[in-house]
Amino acid sequence: TPPQLIDRFGRRVDYVRLSVTDRCDFRCVYCMSEKMEFLPRADVLSLEELYDVAAAFVGLGVRKIRLTGGEPLVRRGILSLIERLGRLPIELVLTTNGSQLPHMAEDLVRAGVQRLNISLDSLQPERFRELTRTGRLEQVLSGIEAARSAGFKRIKLNAVVLKGRNDDEVLDLVEFARDSGLDISFIEEMPLGQITEHGRAEAYCSSDEIRELIDARYPLQASADSTGGPSRYFSMSDSASRIGFISPHSHNFCSECNRVRVTVEGRLLLCLGNEHSVDLREVMRQSPGDLERLQQTLIEAMDIKPEKHEFRLDEEPQILRFMNMTGG
Ligand code: GTP
Ligand code: 5AD
Ligand code: SF4
Repeated sequence: TPPQLIDRFGRRVDYVRLSVTDRCDFRCVYCMSEKMEFLPRADVLSLEELYDVAAAFVGLGVRKIRLTGGEPLVRRGILSLIERLGRLPIELVLTTNGSQLPHMAEDLVRAGVQRLNISLDSLQPERFRELTRTGRLEQVLSGIEAARSAGFKRIKLNAVVLKGRNDDEVLDLVEFARDSGLDISFIEEMPLGQITEHGRAEAYCSSDEIRELIDARYPLQASADSTGGPSRYFSMSDSASRIGFISPHSHNFCSECNRVRVTVEGRLLLCLGNEHSVDLREVMRQSPGDLERLQQTLIEAMDIKPEKHEFRLDEEPQILRFMNMTGG
């Protein structure tokens, strides 16, 4: 059998989250600070290097690649990378803020993106603007429309729920998802980077709270469905939409972890909530095109994959990198 990526805890890594840019046209309050400095071009992996990383992983049994950012669709030339990745024997998926979908949704389907996750935290234009700082709800709703008609296998909405900011919109978001025939995941905010808009402990809203609220209106049934990510899914009797919960604080999912991340600087991050990492860029720039050396580096890196994250809401964030540097 070909080599596989297995860590010290026996977990098999077959899912890679590849960040293709740290840039974004939005500045979501939980993801970035208001003033962000983005990386200089030379520090960022080229499209060629991004492809090589993906190919190295696929040779080691990786079956799913999710493109993330920042906002992946603002990376120049991204479609050419996606077209190449689309020919690999993997499930190719993408997480986006939706802003570029009006003009890109069809190209993405054509290039081989199978599923799409689209962030949507509010259905109220002014509040949407507050939460994203620069985003326009109208534009994202058109993006969602474009994606719906483009023919993806599945589309999931993501909502980070913050107490006092958008927790009163949970049912509206569920109804929007039901009416549009989409899935939706509600996410507990993770403490990455130092933010100033809200206290993370004060804004905490547990998945159980949200689930009970939804269940009172639309009875939820636990579902065995999985997309290979951390979402726990529930179904409703009168709709095909699934309701997911991503609960890093209240339902730790680390024992099932099957994934690693690559930052746009080519840092292999072995866990979202830890700093353990390996510099893949250095390896690639020292010996360009040497897939074997890259793969050896990946195999060895499995030994430093941490057992779990130790997110704490009641302290200063232990992880100083922002989510846009991390790929979510
Ligand atoms: P699919 O299951 O493929 O649909 O993906 P997903 O829901 O895992 O991916 P998405 O990019 O939509 O991420 C949704 C949320 O899950 C984001 O807030 C991610 O940061 C979070 N997430 C994904 N993987 C992990 C993980 O390994 N650990 C933690 N703590 N959060 C994760
Ligand atoms: N905590 C939880 N989710 C976050 N996201 C961005 N920052 C955070 C955070 N601090 C989400 C986005 C997007 C996904 C990639 O990650 O809303 O849906
Ligand atoms: Fe951009 Fe996504 Fe971060 Fe919002 S959460 S600022 S859309 S990368």
